[in-house]
Amino acid sequence: MAGRLQDKVAIVTGGGSGIGEAISKRFAREGAAVVVVGLDSDPVREVVDEILSRGGRAIGYLGDISRQDTAKACVKAAVKEFGRLDILINNAGVFPATAELDKYPVDAFEYMIKNNIYSVFMMSRAALPELQKTKGNIVSAGSEAGHMGSPMITPYGGTKAWVMTFSKGLAVEQAKHGVRVNCVGPGPIDTAWTHKETGPMDSKMEKNTVNGAPLGRRGTPEEVANVYLFLASDEASYVTGATYFVDGGVTISKSLSGEEVPSHLKQQPPQHLKLEHSKEGNTKVRQDAAASMG
Ligand SMILES: NC(=O)c1ccc[n+]([C@@H]2O[C@H](COP(=O)([O-])OP(=O)(O)OC[C@H]3O[C@@H](n4cnc5c(N)ncnc54)[C@H](O)[C@@H]3O)[C@@H](O)[C@H]2O)c1
Repeated sequence: MAGRLQDKVAIVTGGGSGIGEAISKRFAREGAAVVVVGLDSDPVREVVDEILSRGGRAIGYLGDISRQDTAKACVKAAVKEFGRLDILINNAGVFPATAELDKYPVDAFEYMIKNNIYSVFMMSRAALPELQKTKGNIVSAGSEAGHMGSPMITPYGGTKAWVMTFSKGLAVEQAKHGVRVNCVGPGPIDTAWTHKETGPMDSKMEKNTVNGAPLGRRGTPEEVANVYLFLASDEASYVTGATYFVDGGVTISKSLSGEEVPSHLKQQPPQHLKLEHSKEGNTKVRQDAAASMG
């Protein structure tokens, strides 16, 4: 049976870890050829190897796609290898610090502007000429924090609001070229970012983040990838300018309602992807992504 992305070519930025690993593997299973993009230090090679070992099609592309030259070269590499580009997934992002604003590290703010905003701008700009040829689409990572704002990570939420608003304008602008543009807005997902051991949240913030979701648990990377899959596929042919929240209900919640969910209902559903890098994400200012912008 043909996959839901049969014969499509997709770029997945930040595809080496966390949600991006799941998107890359899910898309490959549905027949897409995937360009898995990440920084030099990301486990991109492993993700590509696993896709190839399952009979899928993938290449890795290493580099900092917030830089214009790298973004252009990435799109060029995708078209050179697979002949076309149908889907751009702007999933790459960073989450380097939590603090009240008067103590928020300035380098962490700049790191987010660069890797959460420049990367989406540069990749979308570079990919559009190819997406216009194929009547393709873009799906970008927003966030519940970009919709509502979140204490202790106020600049992070701001960067994600930028992504979501940018996407709406781009959806209207590019409709005449047959290009759709949407966002996914994850809530607390089971990656490095939402665990105090692997990210910048302390135990109080971790607990409030998870219990703020009425479903009372973290979502899995695979559950988020499923929504990316729908939006990127032709099944979503009448969906543009939308943000689909995959957030366990957190954007409609006013309290820590997840605390009331009994433990047997907090179990994550069975997972089908073999994810090995879900907790290896970008949660510190790293030199390979901290170079000057532009
Ligand atoms: N995890 C969550 O709870 C959550 C919630 C809301 C939104 N999101 C969004 O989902 C996306 C993925 O989050 P995650 O938790 O999987 O994080 P992650 O750190 O595991 O994955 C992001 C990947 O992007 C890569 N990356 C960052 N900047 C890059 C650049 N300039 N060039 C190339 N690669 C770059 C990182 O190195 C990393 O591998 C992010 O955009 C994030 O804002 C995540």
